[in-house]
Amino acid sequence: MQIKNAYRQIDVGLGERSYCVRVGAGVRHSLPELVAATGARKAVVVSARPEEWTPDPGIPFLALPARDGERHKTWDTVIELCRAFADFGLTRHDVVVSCGGGTTTDTVGLSAALFHRGIQVIHLPTSLLAQVDASIGGKTAVNLPEGKNLVGAYWQPRAVVCDTDYLGTLPDRERINGYGELARCHFIGVDGIHRLPLDEQITASVARKADIVMADERDTGLRHLLNYGHTLGHALETATDFRLRHGEAVAIGTVFAGRLAETLGRIGAARREEHRTVVAGYGLPTMLPADVDESRLIALMRLDKKATSGLGFVLDGTHGAELVTDVSEKAVADCLARMPRGQ
Ligand code: GLY
Repeated sequence: MQIKNAYRQIDVGLGERSYCVRVGAGVRHSLPELVAATGARKAVVVSARPEEWTPDPGIPFLALPARDGERHKTWDTVIELCRAFADFGLTRHDVVVSCGGGTTTDTVGLSAALFHRGIQVIHLPTSLLAQVDASIGGKTAVNLPEGKNLVGAYWQPRAVVCDTDYLGTLPDRERINGYGELARCHFIGVDGIHRLPLDEQITASVARKADIVMADERDTGLRHLLNYGHTLGHALETATDFRLRHGEAVAIGTVFAGRLAETLGRIGAARREEHRTVVAGYGLPTMLPADVDESRLIALMRLDKKATSGLGFVLDGTHGAELVTDVSEKAVADCLARMPRGQ
């Protein structure tokens, strides 16, 4: 990792698809330099933030407004964006810039992956969740009525710019939502992350993700670690019709992962309790919502992409976290039944 004057830089080394992630206050102002390095002559800047928060890319550009939120992360949005790129005369040598939360970086990323069979994209994630996880690693997708992230592509950006100035503009709930992905880092190799200042937590999370993506870009092994707390987390998002935000659901899923790991004899009671205290320390929820049905959660967890057959979870253990498949339904049901309920 390099520490320059006003920002830290993490390099994601993927051969000819390598790129840098910059983290720091005001780092969005380095966008023109990063755009210049792409060799593009024109840009489209798709932004879910007000004009004053959207940096000028330094070359002729078209500004397109976007909206954050799962409701807008659709195939229709991708088509609208690609048609606007075509109308503006964007060529395969030009660049698209996304500026917004993870739903915006995902949708714009997929549009860039598809337009002219792939054009360059630079992400400016503005939510904490997008800065610490969603914008890094090249996963892009949109939702279908049948499920979340069902249509997507791996498309690595040319650069990611995590300007921490954006975080001061977030509502409390959105900021706390981002903590969900930070809390789970403590259990996947960033021990003590919660004790660092926030900008260092962002950098540490990005650096851990960069290492994992460099080792397993296409999510065939090690990248499963990033899904710590996500098996139950994704089920909770769906079961609550997205009333629970992603990071909140992952937080509850992380507490559950600690309980399940203890039930399976992988960790002791103190480590199980550490899951709850780390999550609670961020002000995140730790209890199952009062109104969700356990059998529905189990049915949804069976659909999880990590489960080839049966139920699969990333669980802590003596040698750290790892994917555990074919976990018995009884163990999962018992653990769910014992989870405190609230909220
Ligand atoms: N957010 C999980 C991953 O990028 O693999």
